Amino acid sequence: MVDSIRPIHAGLLGIGTVGAGTFNVLTRNQEEIQRRAGRPIRIVTVADLDQARARQIVGDSVRIVGDARMVIADPDIDIVIELIGGHGIARQLVLEAIAAGKHVVTANKALLAVHGTEIFAAARAKGVVVAFEGAVAGGIPIIKALREGLTANRIEWIAGIINGTTNFILSEMRAKGLDFATALKQAQRLGYAEADPTFDIEGVDAAHKASIMSAIAFGTPVQFAQAHVEGISQLQAADIGYAEQLGYRIKLLGITKRRNDLAAAGIELRVHPTLVPAQRLIANVEGAMNAVVVHGDAVGSTLYYGKGAGAEPTASAVIADLVDIARLHSADPGHHVPTLAFQPGAMHNTPILPMAQVITSFYLRLQVADQAGVLAGITRILADHRISIDALLQRPHGEQGTQGAARTDVIVLTYDTLEGKMNQAMAQMQVLPTVLAPIVRIRKEDLS
Ligand code: HSE
Repeated sequence: MVDSIRPIHAGLLGIGTVGAGTFNVLTRNQEEIQRRAGRPIRIVTVADLDQARARQIVGDSVRIVGDARMVIADPDIDIVIELIGGHGIARQLVLEAIAAGKHVVTANKALLAVHGTEIFAAARAKGVVVAFEGAVAGGIPIIKALREGLTANRIEWIAGIINGTTNFILSEMRAKGLDFATALKQAQRLGYAEADPTFDIEGVDAAHKASIMSAIAFGTPVQFAQAHVEGISQLQAADIGYAEQLGYRIKLLGITKRRNDLAAAGIELRVHPTLVPAQRLIANVEGAMNAVVVHGDAVGSTLYYGKGAGAEPTASAVIADLVDIARLHSADPGHHVPTLAFQPGAMHNTPILPMAQVITSFYLRLQVADQAGVLAGITRILADHRISIDALLQRPHGEQGTQGAARTDVIVLTYDTLEGKMNQAMAQMQVLPTVLAPIVRIRKEDLS
């Protein structure tokens, strides 16, 4: 069986942080990896615009080219590793690699969230694998867990801290009482946030990852365009403080949930700041770490924790994909693990529900005039919409700073309700003459 010992040859497109990590880990652990893969796995060519820098990283043993298409055209290369990022040229190169009959490994969540359906269809038609463990939660093997380890389950929901930058910012805001802008500057100083951190702080990066997990969990196309995306840039330190007093932490969660009840049938797919009970393990995930809770009907809740970014954690995921492909290289494509966990003919077009049909509970903060009957007016509106109150807290407005005697903050925690009902109730509360500022609303999930 000559083929079983032939090395697998990979070509690397883009040798930045993750590319360098992948090269280094593959070199350092090559013996161990070969024992697992059954054959050597070698990066034989690197394509990068900065060839001198690439040479510094890989030394003399690897061919370096400036043109990615030389890798794609090389008949000696079995796998193309795409680590360029974004969904412009990366999309084009991945589609060309597939058309050339190469397997593809990518850590590019934006690419798969936006163009996944097109790319997976092209790969299927060509009988090649597109593997993307590194695209979601970095080094945590969450794709493997969803696609294989939990395959017996009907997955009910997933909730994850899947953006390290925002989790670092939220941790700093809570622990040190910082406001958002100061915590963001700290994240940038430490190199967590990008110079332009918009995708991180506005929830887009987390939504890319949540969309991919949702597709794998429920056997649907990747539906990023339908996701509700809300980041943390509007979050105020006061609300983190009040949440804490009530026994909650605020986390930016990517949530996807299967729904089939009287109110709606479909899938919830949303990213937003979320109050989580402080005693949950996921509420205690601090700093730049990631964690994902997956709830399956048979297994119950399972939690996956680890580094969601960085050179070697992401390399760990990229190389796991290389090993999977090396093991399957000579297998009939019909025996590959299905890309989105479900057999291609068994996918469903289950719709993403509009936010008005999402069921969740809420934290509300109303800045109100401190006078008789104000609370009664608020609770009356909630009762009219059949929204049940879980807890109430009243604190002088600005107690963390200057005192304003005539104003008070009223914080309301509700039980689960349809978001559409809450929208109506909030619209009525907002126009009460005693409500003196825009109402702050943060969703809350018990994750039990
Ligand atoms: N910007 C991402 C994060 C890194 O902060 O988690 C990997 O997607």
